[in-house]
Amino acid sequence: MHIAMIGTGYVGLVSGACLADFGHHVTCIDKDAAKIDKIKAGVMPIWEPGLEALVKSNIERGRLNFTQELAEGIKDAEAVFIAVGTPARRGDGHADLTYVYDAVRELARAMSRPLVVVTKSTVPVGTGDRIAEILAEEGAPEGTSVASNPEFLREGAAIRDFKIPDRIVVGAEDDKGREVLKEIYRPLFLNQAPILFTSRRTAELTKYAANAFLAMKISFINEVANLCEAVGADVQEVARGIGLDNRIGPKFLHAGPGYGGSCFPKDTLALLQTAEEAGVEQRIISTVVSVNDDRKAAMADRVANALGGSLEGKRVAVLGLTFKPNTDDMRDAPSIPLIKRLQEGGADVIAFDPVGRQQAEPLLPGCAFAENSYAAAEGADAVVIVTEWDEFRALDLDQLASRMRGRALVDLRNVYDRLEAERAGLLHFGVGRGQIGRKPV
Ligand SMILES: NC(=O)c1ccc[n+]([C@@H]2O[C@H](COP(=O)([O-])OP(=O)(O)OC[C@H]3O[C@@H](n4cnc5c(N)ncnc54)[C@H](O)[C@@H]3O)[C@@H](O)[C@H]2O)c1
Repeated sequence: MHIAMIGTGYVGLVSGACLADFGHHVTCIDKDAAKIDKIKAGVMPIWEPGLEALVKSNIERGRLNFTQELAEGIKDAEAVFIAVGTPARRGDGHADLTYVYDAVRELARAMSRPLVVVTKSTVPVGTGDRIAEILAEEGAPEGTSVASNPEFLREGAAIRDFKIPDRIVVGAEDDKGREVLKEIYRPLFLNQAPILFTSRRTAELTKYAANAFLAMKISFINEVANLCEAVGADVQEVARGIGLDNRIGPKFLHAGPGYGGSCFPKDTLALLQTAEEAGVEQRIISTVVSVNDDRKAAMADRVANALGGSLEGKRVAVLGLTFKPNTDDMRDAPSIPLIKRLQEGGADVIAFDPVGRQQAEPLLPGCAFAENSYAAAEGADAVVIVTEWDEFRALDLDQLASRMRGRALVDLRNVYDRLEAERAGLLHFGVGRGQIGRKPV
């Protein structure tokens, strides 16, 4: 099948490359000319494991193309996916649908025959209805179908998630939409991936409910971590103890510096806006959002406490800047408010991230950057692990300690345990690992 993908960001590029890999003919479209030129030259605009090879091999097989021109991109398409950004609108947290609606208007004007228009972007309930209206207003050919197919891939594991999804959700209001999406995903459900057909509104809400639930698990375990610290219990073991229960499950139960990234923060806010408009309270999600905001804000205090209460004149090395490992995405990363607060408290911050520096530098004024973890630790009073990149899991703690002038290892991801750190002469400050009576450095 010929497919067009409007928006060639994380979701559009990964989805487009994977759909081409299934054997479809895919054209990815993006307004950003520099991005399209880069991809055509073999340079990926994002850091995602396996993406470069997947894109290259599908270009070589003639199944994957890139263009800046929407009309050219949809020429042969039967289905057009919309995968543009839906960031939080400044001020109110509403999903900003400008990019979606602009793309739909342009699409309507370029269409010469009815197509299946599929929203892959995360959009509030009712957006599909509005898309159908815009298409009609702009004179799109009759018989055009509008479907919702929210995407659940995770950055850092995006290709695997797309190719071996837990489920595929399709919201369609007519047979044409259902049949075309069934055909597109046929290679996947041959592999037993469940495909759920539902209404468009239900599909739209399913995506928000999924992200809100996962955000809730993170905030839940972070609050349990606070309790562990107060009563001398270990959150890692509590998480294991509850996670082995199938009704709970082990994932998203890692205490840490709070959730960030391109989805959870904006999607929880957008869900609250939808609920407010519908006049329905969502007290749990509302609390999840404030628990997370408070948590992110409190991380610098943990560093200050580990340093005896004050950050003034202290040198702090931050390891890991991206919101999670295996991506260069810095959107809403917990490292940003942490570093800002460390600096406001009078600390000098030097950071290292295995791939995120280019994205991070413009967001972190006044922060110095090191070439590796040990260089960052040089002369530091504290080393703070913020993102659990694999390479931070096997640091030579003796070498790290020998470079530092202080002894605090603030481990916001619980990568190390207290005894390992102590063997290297470091004092370990983990998350939710209550050590009653523990004194700062
Ligand atoms: N990033 C994720 O992990 C993830 C996962 C699941 C769902 N989503 C959702 O998918 C959507 C896209 O997210 P993303 O992270 O890929 O965004 P992104 O910002 O990486 O990419 C969006 C792309 O759309 C392009 N664009 C905007 N308007 C356009 C137009 N009119 N025509 C052509 N191109 C246009 C932009 O130039 C940009 O390259 C969002 O709704 C997001 O919530 C993201």
